[in-house]
Amino acid sequence: MQSISHLPTQQIRNIIRKIRRNLPIEQRLQAEQTIYLQVQQHTKIQLAHNIAIFLSFDGEVNTQPIIEYLWQQGKSVFLPLIDPVKPNHLIFIAYEQDTPLIANQFDIFEPIYDANKIIPYQSLDVIFTPLVAFDDRNYRIGMGGGYYDRLLQNYQQENIYPIGLAFKCQQIDHVMNQAWDIQLPEIIKG
Ligand SMILES: Nc1ncnc2c1ncn2[C@@H]1O[C@H](COP(=O)(O)OP(=O)(O)OP(=O)(O)O)[C@@H](O)[C@H]1O
Ligand SMILES: [Mg+2]
Repeated sequence: MQSISHLPTQQIRNIIRKIRRNLPIEQRLQAEQTIYLQVQQHTKIQLAHNIAIFLSFDGEVNTQPIIEYLWQQGKSVFLPLIDPVKPNHLIFIAYEQDTPLIANQFDIFEPIYDANKIIPYQSLDVIFTPLVAFDDRNYRIGMGGGYYDRLLQNYQQENIYPIGLAFKCQQIDHVMNQAWDIQLPEIIKG
């Protein structure tokens, strides 16, 4: 665990992102395999129909095998897109094998906006949530946009189950959580 909670949040982000990018490949693959097995055994995922996930970048846990698995299981899979109408918010677009992707301004691949492929937030059952750092209470530090904090504000009322995905090296001693920060019910770690 990294005892760096006394540092400014932006510095914590930089440190953990670097550690994550530099995770030795053997350790990374081992951890991703552990995570993959936990996903397969997860009751909430087994029962879910509509699942939001993200495409990995910057050394994040590789979600590609998870997406393939979800497709195999007949789940409907969705990816986030910054809402062109409400720019601080995310919308979710159906992601199928043949959905075209384009790189956004951060070089993250996204599906192309298609009004017919949007799922309303309340219809999501599980939201896999990216994170940079987390603590033992499942408070998280994200990339700094506040997108997931805004998104998950009312997740309990909507009966949505967010699940963080992380490597153990992303754990820090304490997240100095702010009023708007969302505590995740679960983080799958490897
Ligand atoms: N529910 C909210 N309503 C309004 N503003 C919010 C909300 N949640 C977060 N914000 C704003 O977003 C900004 C970034 O928040 P924060 O630093 O917690 O991002 P983060 O948790 O790293 O990012 P993300 O949630 O995208 O992973 C803050 O300035 C905060 O004021
Ligand atoms: Mg936050």
